[in-house]
Amino acid sequence: MILVTGATGHFGTAAIHFLLEKGVKANQITALVRSEKAANEWRKKGVHIAIGDYDNYPSLVTAFKGVEKLLFVSGSDIGKRLAQHENVVKAAKEAGVKQIVYTSFQRRNETETSPLWIVAQSHLQTEKWIKESGITYTILKNNLYMDFVPAFVGENVLQSGVVYLPAQNGRVSAVLRVELAEATANILVGGNHENKVYEFTNTESFSYQEIASFISDRTGKTVHYVSPSPAEYEQTLAKYGVPPDAIGVFTSFAVAQAQGELDVVSNDLQNILGRTPTSIGAFLNTVYKK
Ligand SMILES: NC(=O)c1ccc[n+]([C@@H]2O[C@H](COP(=O)([O-])OP(=O)(O)OC[C@H]3O[C@@H](n4cnc5c(N)ncnc54)[C@H](OP(=O)(O)O)[C@@H]3O)[C@@H](O)[C@H]2O)c1
Repeated sequence: MILVTGATGHFGTAAIHFLLEKGVKANQITALVRSEKAANEWRKKGVHIAIGDYDNYPSLVTAFKGVEKLLFVSGSDIGKRLAQHENVVKAAKEAGVKQIVYTSFQRRNETETSPLWIVAQSHLQTEKWIKESGITYTILKNNLYMDFVPAFVGENVLQSGVVYLPAQNGRVSAVLRVELAEATANILVGGNHENKVYEFTNTESFSYQEIASFISDRTGKTVHYVSPSPAEYEQTLAKYGVPPDAIGVFTSFAVAQAQGELDVVSNDLQNILGRTPTSIGAFLNTVYKK
């Protein structure tokens, strides 16, 4: 039995679809969801349902009983994630799960000085807990979802003619979320992934300068790249009414990109996907038109 957490989210949903597509029988998959209502789509497909919440330890132990492989999709509540992830790993151990595949994150700096420390801390600790648990693991250091690049570029880029982001000349090796999910399904159905850590990145990194040039070429509108200081950027976003939490997230990710935190290039994803991941150019072609 393969249990997928986050089965109502983008990643978990895609992973289950790929498992089904790759021949895993629906009755060999369990979707962990937080409510009965959220279970309907999977129930219709014949996928088992387990109701569980990362905040509720006993619910996880019950859900994980009889599970051989656990696809542990990291939680989305950053403030509560550390305690939630501890629950997941402990429950997996108590329930006798044989393998955990964990969606971690890309980084270079593993100290508190990382601009992404607020995100990093719980991932690093979770990886440690998983390794200490003695359960066979596969850790996926997922780069930035390419799907989020247009948000960093700015939705009004064609009107403003400016990509405005304090990412300097930093490069990022973003990948499409759906391709990460597909490769993850390949790991769950394949072998030889025991106790491995994979760098799930694209095969080429790119800068926002290159993105601005690409959008110009693609649309015929001139787009410049401007990299302000982080403080200037925060003030500008505040002036446009962006909520403080969102300003914090955008700024820390931009600064991380400036510092090369996400500039890791590896063939791991390509090898496991069995093809070259979608490039930034191919993706931007689907987003921006003449
Ligand atoms: N690499 C990147 O660029 C990047 C970017 C964003 C996020 N991430 C990470 O990747 C994960 C998956 O991405 P995604 O796009 O699939 O996110 P998503 O669509 O927001 O899905 C998150 C999933 O986690 C579930 N969840 C949240 N809190 C939970 C709890 N307390 N107990 C049980 N389940 C809980 C949600 O369930 P409900 O439907 O019940 O809320 C949902 O199914 C995120 O959660 C985050 O950790 C990575």
